[in-house]
Amino acid sequence: MSSVTALVIEDEADIRKLLSMAINRMGIDCHVAANLEEARHLLADARYQVCLTDMKLPDGNGVDFVRYIQSVQPDLPVAVVSAHGNMEAAVEAMKNGAFDFVSKPVDIHLLRKLITTAIATHATAANDARTQPHSSVPATHGGTPITHGRAGTHALVGDSPPIQNLRKMILKLARSNAPVWITGESGTGKELIARLIHTNSARAAAPFVPINCGAIPSELMESELFGHKKGSFTGAMQDHDGLFLQAEGGTLFLDEVAELPLHMQVKLLRVIQEKSLRRVGDTQEQITDVRILSASHKDLSAEVEAGRFRHDLYYRLNVITLTAPSLASRASDLPQLIRHFLNNMTNGTHQASITLDDAARTALNQYAFPGNVRELENILERALAMTEGNTIRVEDLGPLNITSTNHLLPDDLQKTHRHDSPSNGAVHTQSPNRDINKETIVATLEHTRWNRKQAAEQLGMTYRQLRYRIQQLGIISSDKSD
Ligand SMILES: Nc1ncnc2c1ncn2[C@@H]1O[C@H](COP(=O)(O)OP(=O)(O)OP(=O)(O)O)[C@@H](O)[C@H]1O
Ligand SMILES: [Mg+2]
Repeated sequence: MSSVTALVIEDEADIRKLLSMAINRMGIDCHVAANLEEARHLLADARYQVCLTDMKLPDGNGVDFVRYIQSVQPDLPVAVVSAHGNMEAAVEAMKNGAFDFVSKPVDIHLLRKLITTAIATHATAANDARTQPHSSVPATHGGTPITHGRAGTHALVGDSPPIQNLRKMILKLARSNAPVWITGESGTGKELIARLIHTNSARAAAPFVPINCGAIPSELMESELFGHKKGSFTGAMQDHDGLFLQAEGGTLFLDEVAELPLHMQVKLLRVIQEKSLRRVGDTQEQITDVRILSASHKDLSAEVEAGRFRHDLYYRLNVITLTAPSLASRASDLPQLIRHFLNNMTNGTHQASITLDDAARTALNQYAFPGNVRELENILERALAMTEGNTIRVEDLGPLNITSTNHLLPDDLQKTHRHDSPSNGAVHTQSPNRDINKETIVATLEHTRWNRKQAAEQLGMTYRQLRYRIQQLGIISSDKSD
């Protein structure tokens, strides 16, 4: 006897039969109901690991039923079967807690993938409930929270109410397949949040693939995302799996999604809707099982208003919005974050017991951090490079009031940094626009033929700071190899 049972609610007898047969063939028991009333009775009598419901039923609609399940058995993943092309209903159901959707006519391969992920999600949730019997939210401990089975390496540091709330949301969203759009100021941890949603989900064993939509040239975008067949265009020397296929079974993180060119927006919309894609030059469609998370520091609704972003894609990416809180809104996390970064940065070095003096601490406490956590990280990195002993002094922090940086070219930078003042590193590290920083660094590196020592001098950074920024911005791998 199988220990897994699914509940299927569908009023059309032949579709009901088809669904239950497909599920049985996966070795899963299946109970069926023709309406919501029957379904409620079944739910009261048996435990299910996954539920599949039609949207239009004789005695109510699927969204109401999703809400009902949320109230009686919140851990039960429910997927809705929506009429083909009726994405509004599917999105509405996901906003109300549905795990995922599948369109009619139901593709059996897709259904299988969906059921498998749903069951894994349920098992994960049940496991968590066993290991954390008193709460669905992991306890925080000494600044290394999310002490969760599968997570941990990319921990979210902080105990402030916004962070506690965020942690709850991450764990909740990890149990869904719904697209999540992560918004928030620069440097607030949007990518970290996306990773945590992935690592806490049933998809954790499959890849997390981040894509910076602003960094891929427009003409290569389709092949980068969806792959291509050998010979489909000049330079396509062999078959290539795109990033979607690389993320199969896992999560794709579309960072800076506002930068997607319009022609790609149409293609992406189709893939999300159909859950299948076609490589460039291929005649075959392939089913894809990838969860889509996206982020942007831009206001996407304003981009829609301005005609730069398709409303229909916005609507599908933004099924659930998660806002990364600014550092200023959670100032009580500052000491933990400082400790966390200093520990990370000095790990394995002789600077292991580094501290801040009172003036440095006060200065940081009073600072607004327009660049948020990333800026804090950069300030500390710089301070570590500047400090001579084991105590960071206020002058090691550089001036903490730089709010804007112009497009500085290497020559301008040289002028700016003529006087080797402590502000030098800060101009780079505290810029609210990291793209400018990156361009400037790349331009300077090219200018010096990739002599990092010389480039660092020209940029007014220490060699170590530059090396750190190169690594942080991934400059060597992406920019040098083109
Ligand atoms: N709560 C947190 N705890 C620990 N580290 C954090 C936290 N929030 C952010 N960070 C760190 O801050 C840095 C910036 O985070 P991340 O890249 O995720 O931000 P972002 O919002 O994607 O930034 P951007 O808008 O510039 O793309 C990373 O090194 C990340 O690990
Ligand atoms: Mg980011």
